[in-house]
Amino acid sequence: MTRTEELLAAAAAAPGFMPADEGRALYEAARAVAVDGPLLEIGSWMGKSALYLAAAAAEAGRVVVTVDHHRGSEEHQPGWEYHQPELVDPATGLLDTLPSFRRTVHPAEDLVVAVVGRSEVLAPLWSSPPALLFLDGSHTEESARRDQDAWVGKLAVGGTLAVHDVFPDPADGGQAPFGVYTRVLASGDFTELPGTGSLRVLRRDR
Ligand SMILES: C[S@@+](CC[C@H](N)C(=O)[O-])C[C@H]1O[C@@H](n2cnc3c(N)ncnc32)[C@H](O)[C@@H]1O
Repeated sequence: MTRTEELLAAAAAAPGFMPADEGRALYEAARAVAVDGPLLEIGSWMGKSALYLAAAAAEAGRVVVTVDHHRGSEEHQPGWEYHQPELVDPATGLLDTLPSFRRTVHPAEDLVVAVVGRSEVLAPLWSSPPALLFLDGSHTEESARRDQDAWVGKLAVGGTLAVHDVFPDPADGGQAPFGVYTRVLASGDFTELPGTGSLRVLRRDR
């Protein structure tokens, strides 16, 4: 088995919400990027998508940087649809996905740099244009816009923007990522590439 095959198999087996076909599409999008730079993810959760990105990074000699405060999004909090009580740290009473994340990305520790913090705090400090930006953080209207405003302009020209949970039909899911995708496409600076499921992929042309 090659390193990439090992990482893809680990990603497929890892805990998380990303469907296998979308994870594979994220990997394919990352390996197809033609410009230099890191692969940057907003929203690490337990590391499943970071492993898909790491599989591409291993082939291309890139690094994955993934950002999360590891306290979960709105839908992961108590009383919400995706809450998992076993993820609550008894010492703080707060959700903590960092231990699970570390376990998941263990096979790719040489390829994945984890930033523990809020994406909006990191963004003003960040100056290295990512070759690929994967937006998968909080999905409220306000936070999705904030991540768009903070990060999309940093993407390298010729680089790839991937947006997760894009649902054109409100019956299928929240509309904030769809709004990001729609606004980015309307800017005229991006060309849409083939997507898979709720994963949309765009190339920055200028
Ligand atoms: C949908 S999950 C990410 C799933 C992951 N990309 C995967 O597919 O395996 C969203 C993540 O965004 C994180 N998040 C929410 N708001 C954030 C913020 N302002 N800064 C950093 N991370 C944030 C949450 O903690 C959560 O882990």
